[in-house]
Amino acid sequence: MQFSLVSGDAAPVSGELLVIPLFEGELGDAAPAPLATADSSLDGKLRATAAQEGFKGKVDQSFLLHTLGRLGSDRVLLLGLGHRARFQPEVLRLAAGRAAKTAQRLKATSIGFRVPATDNAEGAVRAVVEGLELGVYRFDKYKSSAREEKGAPKLTRATLALPPGTEKSRALEDALALGLKLAEAVNWARDLVNEPPNVVTPSRLAQAAQQAAKEGGLHAEIGGRKEIERLNMGMFLGVTAGSVQEPRLIHLVYTPKNAKDAKRPPLALVGKAITFDSGGLSLKPTEGMVEMKTDMAGSAAVLAAMKVIGSVVKPPFPVHAFIGACENMPSGTAYKPGDILTARSGKTVEITNTDAEGRLVLGDMITWAGEHGPSAIIDLATLTGACMVALGNYIVGAFGDDDATVNSVLEAAKAAGEEMWRLPVTDLQKDALRSEVADMKNSGERWGGAINAALFLKEFVGDVPWVHLDIAGPSNSPKERGYLNKGATGVGARTLVELVRRRAADVASLPEPKAAAPAKRAKAKTARSS
Ligand code: BES
Ligand code: MN
Ligand code: ZN
Repeated sequence: MQFSLVSGDAAPVSGELLVIPLFEGELGDAAPAPLATADSSLDGKLRATAAQEGFKGKVDQSFLLHTLGRLGSDRVLLLGLGHRARFQPEVLRLAAGRAAKTAQRLKATSIGFRVPATDNAEGAVRAVVEGLELGVYRFDKYKSSAREEKGAPKLTRATLALPPGTEKSRALEDALALGLKLAEAVNWARDLVNEPPNVVTPSRLAQAAQQAAKEGGLHAEIGGRKEIERLNMGMFLGVTAGSVQEPRLIHLVYTPKNAKDAKRPPLALVGKAITFDSGGLSLKPTEGMVEMKTDMAGSAAVLAAMKVIGSVVKPPFPVHAFIGACENMPSGTAYKPGDILTARSGKTVEITNTDAEGRLVLGDMITWAGEHGPSAIIDLATLTGACMVALGNYIVGAFGDDDATVNSVLEAAKAAGEEMWRLPVTDLQKDALRSEVADMKNSGERWGGAINAALFLKEFVGDVPWVHLDIAGPSNSPKERGYLNKGATGVGARTLVELVRRRAADVASLPEPKAAAPAKRAKAKTARSS
């Protein structure tokens, strides 16, 4: 979609649909200028009919009215934002998503959006842009009916009118540009997840990574089975053994232009990339299996974030993405319950359930990531059904021992409008992974399944601050909601980009580096182990 900003009270907002978001109570005497203006053009009928229909500006409320040609737009849509005191940009993002869906249903091609006055104009502009762009997303390319509709009008243009008194500025244009790039990247991730598993194979995912690298100005290295063997990634090799699809080892690198910045320790992102998880020989039941094209959502979010990090955010430190892509299939060559695999780290793992495959591939990826001297490792994975049992369809489970790093991720998530909740990685559960014959087993008891998976990953982390995000639930939405459609959400990408923005701001506030950062980390390590 194309976006533009206009400012000034009198700015005419073109668009077939004019959207005016309102806080609770604003329909009454406290009507903001944009509402008052539209209302007077309609002889006071806008506020009167909205009130009659019970519109109060509550969250999720909306009111649509035809203007009978009395305004520059065919229709006006009032959107509830709820209590002003409880406002967060996410409320506006969700509302903008609903506006986009309404516009689509009305077959409007353009939308005029009155950005509400809040204490953060940049955040509001970003929220509106993201909500609209995410909200128009649809995945219907395989529907014949959609193909017939190809020529039908589409929402392609949005004009954002700034609140009265707010002037257009470079900062606001930048906020718009970042919001748009980010939302486009999230939609791109959604496509990757929504595409069926016969299309998004490991090699197709590697192609997507190459595309992301091109768009983000990143360095891409793609390996196959040979490279995985050379790196002794025995757990990864075990999981891919049953599939006829070649596995792919993906390494993307963003390097800052400034040579000093380039020497800083990188941030490492790891994404689960099982392009189809049948469960392997521990085969999943039919109902559970049909969803399992979603099992590469972690890598899709990482790739989407890398695009934006490389093309817009450009932080003053390197960022690496590590992805091991393969299928988990049953066959005569598949890995078996009872097998013992040797990880890249040297640890041996008894396989007790071939459906606990994600942690195996991720374990080798985390070891590999750790060898690059990262300042932190963040992994995103559709790892456990147990996390869905705990937190449901909309909340990401966050795990990690390093409070500061976990909290920084939770804060970034909050700012980005993604719900996350911290769960413990307590050693109390560790017995669950004890094996009689190997260093550990890959699947423990059922209770605390999400924690057990995190504990397994932790075995490969070492001393680096690490955060594990279990996105099994939120990777898909069970229904349409705000800017979400039923299906892939692209969850995680927004948080990663926000985290990198924040770490970039932190680094900028530090004194000049003398390539001293890695040494500092080493010191911190000794301090912790003593
Ligand atoms: N990919 C699944 C987890 C999952 C479940 C993702 C539902 C998205 C929606 C993972 O590989 C898996 O199968 N986990 C098992 C672990 C168990 C065998 C220890 C699970 O959650 O049942
Ligand atoms: Mn599985
Ligand atoms: Zn899986």
